[in-house]
Amino acid sequence: MTGPLSIVGIPGSLREGSRTRMAVEVVLRGAAEAGAATQLIDLREYDLPLCDGSGELARYHAGLLELRKQVAPAQGIVLGTPEYHGSVSGALKNALDLMGFPEFEGKVVALVGVSEGPGGARHALEVLRHVGRALHAWVLPRASAVPGAATVFDATGRVIDAGVEADLLALGRELAQSAALRRDGPPEEFLRRWERQVSNPGADNDVRPITRGGASGYARPS
Ligand SMILES: Cc1cc2nc3c(=O)[nH]c(=O)nc-3n(C[C@H](O)[C@H](O)[C@H](O)COP(=O)(O)O)c2cc1C
Repeated sequence: MTGPLSIVGIPGSLREGSRTRMAVEVVLRGAAEAGAATQLIDLREYDLPLCDGSGELARYHAGLLELRKQVAPAQGIVLGTPEYHGSVSGALKNALDLMGFPEFEGKVVALVGVSEGPGGARHALEVLRHVGRALHAWVLPRASAVPGAATVFDATGRVIDAGVEADLLALGRELAQSAALRRDGPPEEFLRRWERQVSNPGADNDVRPITRGGASGYARPS
């Protein structure tokens, strides 16, 4: 070990009383239970400019420099997004566009999506998965999708739904444990854990492709 594990959470909603922020806080609580030092990054505090693609902003914009300084040392990152018109919030995408490899490459990333409707921000979660891949992050196969947000949290940010709370806490613990293995190794153990992530009932069979003798198709091994 080289010091406590650091996990930051970035909710992509700027709204007062944001349920995405509440959900990210629960994931961070799960990570803290697993021994990580955690920090909520509130994008409202950084007065971020719009990404203009020039890279110049990172040289002088105080808020952006501060954001990058907070995120870069973390070994694990929680990205939380509300579903906005079937995708990620602009605030989060802009913040991600203002950062890059120094903040994300090789990091373990957990995704949480929150929607008012029944979809659980599943479209936004898929977009974030692509963004994580582009930034060379290890995006955990398991993500938390929280539909019907108004019925899940109360006004104080407490989770009313015990099942959702358990899911968010488990995501945080998984993030901390995977990020610790990614940092401290051994690498084979990290990869073994990765291969044992969320179960996929459709993959749970012993059918193997037939490759011998020019035959093609699938059969159970004898
Ligand atoms: C611009 C905008 C677009 C939205 N689009 C969707 C949507 O496509 N599907 C959905 O279920 N909810 C949608 N919502 C509702 C949000 O997902 C919901 O209010 C969520 O709880 C917002 O997160 P917050 O509480 O963190 O601000 C939208 C809200 C806004 C403001």
